[in-house]
Amino acid sequence: MPPDDTILEFASVSRDYATKDGVVQALRNVSLSIRKGECVGLLGPNGAGKTTLIKIIGGLITPTAGDVTFRGRKYPEASRSLRSQAGFLLVESRPIYQKLTVWNSIKFFATLYGVPKRKLHETIDYWLARLGLLERKHEYVENLSTSLQQRLALASVLCHDPGILILDEPTTGMDQNAMASFREIVREIHHSGKTVILCTHDLREAQELCTRMLFVKEGRLIREVMANELQSIQLNSTYVYVKGGGTQFGKTTDADPEHVSAGPRPPAARGGMGGHLTRVDDETVRFTFRGDLPFQDVLAEMRTIVDEKQIIDVVKHETTLEDMYFGLING
Ligand SMILES: Nc1ncnc2c1ncn2[C@@H]1O[C@H](COP(=O)(O)OP(=O)(O)OP(=O)(O)O)[C@@H](O)[C@H]1O
Ligand SMILES: [Mg+2]
Repeated sequence: MPPDDTILEFASVSRDYATKDGVVQALRNVSLSIRKGECVGLLGPNGAGKTTLIKIIGGLITPTAGDVTFRGRKYPEASRSLRSQAGFLLVESRPIYQKLTVWNSIKFFATLYGVPKRKLHETIDYWLARLGLLERKHEYVENLSTSLQQRLALASVLCHDPGILILDEPTTGMDQNAMASFREIVREIHHSGKTVILCTHDLREAQELCTRMLFVKEGRLIREVMANELQSIQLNSTYVYVKGGGTQFGKTTDADPEHVSAGPRPPAARGGMGGHLTRVDDETVRFTFRGDLPFQDVLAEMRTIVDEKQIIDVVKHETTLEDMYFGLING
């Protein structure tokens, strides 16, 4: 194993899918490495390639190009080794059986994942108790709520004590309480020394759990952010709301009606201070200036772009992960 604790590496990995309408490039030239004990979040819009990436990690699909390495050994041979050391929770294939009782369902998967017979009872009881399901063990899985089913799925992939946990949108469909308690469990598991790879659309979830976030867009890794970097990337912004339809400044698309894709941009934005133009409604657009800029500078800049009478409001805004996400994804 490499000395820096790297357990998993992608080197220029691409993956195409052949469809009847042509080739979809789901991943393009992705290079990344994941270290032992990290909780890595994969963030990005629908269709960005997150699940494809996770499926490649799991050896469920193979890359069209590039190399994947697990603990210094190359795929596809090493994928078996990863699978024996990982717990996988994918959206489309949860390790639960609706028609079995909780106990029999988890027993099936624990046996499948190789938990020794002599340890089976004790192990299952431990994980059911840890996930708050012990009292429900005689109930049928189909009678459990979505969130309890998801907890059972998690228990089922944890009972062979995997060092790596790979979760694809694990809290989708849960209410706020269920989400919070599921996250707490994942956090405990991560803090117990496991490596977690988490694909999520929930930015709060990513912010609460992840030590590093990878932003994926159109099959590419466009940015990575360490959790502790988030505070230091203090990208406070100034929003300037301007009267005038989006079309006055540029065009929006059906796919992303919020983002104004063309038209005049503030020189500050063009000059690399960040910022972009967003359509607020039919009559208003917003210019976003990144950074701690004095109001006067922003106003001076705006006067070079629009008539001052068009300016409705100027607001200081503290940047959140959500802003960063939209900035990256729409930028
Ligand atoms: N089996 C497949 N056959 C053809 N195209 C596919 C297949 N699986 C995924 N794709 C396409 O590959 C691209 C990436 O899909 P993927 O499921 O990896 O994205 P995702 O980031 O997980 O999206 P979501 O957030 O919606 O789950 C999309 O354009 C998708 O339509
Ligand atoms: Mg997905």
